[in-house]
Amino acid sequence: MSNNAVTEKWWKEAVVYQIYPRSFKDSNGDGIGDLKGVIEKLDYLKDLGINVIWICPIFKSPQDDNGYDISDYQDIHAEFGSMDDFNELLKQVHARGMKLILDLVINHTSDEHPWFLESRSSKHNSKRDWYIWRDEKNGQEPNNWESIFAGPAWKLDPETNQYFMHIFSAKQPDLNWENKDMRKAVYDMVRWWLDKGIDGFRIDAISHAKKMPGLPDLPNPKGLKYVPSYPMHMNVDGVLDYVGELCEETFAKYDVMTVGEANGVNSAKAEDWVSEKKKRLNMIIQFEHTKLWDSLGEEKFNLAELKEIFSNWQKNLHGIGWNALFVENHDITRIVSRWGDPEKFRRESATSIAAMYFLMQGSPFIYQGQEIGMTNTEFNGPDDFQDVFAKNHFAIRRSEGATDTQITKEIAHTSRDNARTPMQWNADKNAGFSSGTPWLKVNPNYQQINVETESKDPQSILNFYKNLIRLRRENKIFIYGSFDLVLQDHLDVFAYSRKLGSQEALVICNLKGKNTTVSIKVKPEMKQILANYQQASQITANSIELKPFECVVYLQV
Ligand code: GLC
Ligand code: CA
Repeated sequence: MSNNAVTEKWWKEAVVYQIYPRSFKDSNGDGIGDLKGVIEKLDYLKDLGINVIWICPIFKSPQDDNGYDISDYQDIHAEFGSMDDFNELLKQVHARGMKLILDLVINHTSDEHPWFLESRSSKHNSKRDWYIWRDEKNGQEPNNWESIFAGPAWKLDPETNQYFMHIFSAKQPDLNWENKDMRKAVYDMVRWWLDKGIDGFRIDAISHAKKMPGLPDLPNPKGLKYVPSYPMHMNVDGVLDYVGELCEETFAKYDVMTVGEANGVNSAKAEDWVSEKKKRLNMIIQFEHTKLWDSLGEEKFNLAELKEIFSNWQKNLHGIGWNALFVENHDITRIVSRWGDPEKFRRESATSIAAMYFLMQGSPFIYQGQEIGMTNTEFNGPDDFQDVFAKNHFAIRRSEGATDTQITKEIAHTSRDNARTPMQWNADKNAGFSSGTPWLKVNPNYQQINVETESKDPQSILNFYKNLIRLRRENKIFIYGSFDLVLQDHLDVFAYSRKLGSQEALVICNLKGKNTTVSIKVKPEMKQILANYQQASQITANSIELKPFECVVYLQV
């Protein structure tokens, strides 16, 4: 497979920076990040070297799930700014030679979207079938599915005395993808944005669009009130028909970047989603490697499994489709706190993990704050959480008699709010994020960890990211080259080679906080082009000694 030529495309050369607008930069002191704040920081992003910005939902929304509950797809949420601000943002991004992609949330809308308001108004409304309505069953919900955000996946609407489905929050009713008119309205909206000149979309939760026909109850051997329901709505057979139609009706007509959020799709099935021949999506955000985070044992993570997962994605898609490479986003905790060592080796671990994922084949994504090694935060009680899942979880566990201290402890290490604390720009009040009171508490470590401090230190995580980005831009081997794991069985080190034509590169990353040795021959024509320790690693004829979380990159020059 590794002989397959890889076609060149602009989006394959992309380094994507993900902005969570609420937490990025507040320009007017109301404590909430906004579009003008993003515009203020475009020069920072340009200087970092990234060339594509993905901005999480900025559309009109009651903000139950921070904008993933949209009440008007074609308007901007007032706290973020106006359509004029958006137009200015797009113009400014393009003026700097960068591109902008938006978040497309079409598995569900807000319950305040006019489509839903119509749908709920009567059983006979023409939009009734745009959402999923069912009668009660034995005085209860239509089935026993649990919502991803805790509690039942159904809510009774007194208006017509039927339940509607919501696999996320109760304010995010699921659209009924079986309905053709609904799909057509979605495509019209998508084309409207594409015609405006945006450069693509990240498509939210798209692997959930298809629900299991018949919406059957799940087996419930444990006698739970509601049963975790992923198999009933995630990557269900037939979902690709919807994805295919969406692409054909919209993206295929434009030169844009499309990134599907595809929970539940594994590397064996990826081809169906991103094969260039099938003309569906350019790449998908997959979750196989982040699943390893769920099992926090003695070992921080299982390196053998991680290697297998990444290697399968690399191998299965080489010459066929493209990868989205990421280790952080707004839904998962900070990588230094997860896989690295935020206390003893924050800089070393953040940079080694960075080199590890960034130089594989695919388009690397950087989540805001990752480039300065931001960490998980502290939660002292219920008021420190803002996420809808946390709020639901508090309500449910309190009703079961748990104390706030207990509940806080239960979710502190996994809460999505860890990744959503305001961006740390400098050591001033509120980390330079806002002159008002931030909507979510700033991480108390902002005086040590911030952009300003790191930009002055040549050895910082920030400058390491700049080097990584530059390296990738200057050497096509890191974009188009083939991938092979090396040192496959090593217990501490993730290493791989990239090859393009007769050129070769070697990426070697110690992912453990201890010294280790690797037996490897580095050819004399290979030169070290990047490392995260100032003092070069000890190379002998047949081995390299690596310090804790040390990484080195060699390139044949
Ligand atoms: C996606 C988003 C997440 C959101 C959910 C519902 O997983 O990344 O933030 O809560 O979809 O829209
Ligand atoms: Ca603001």
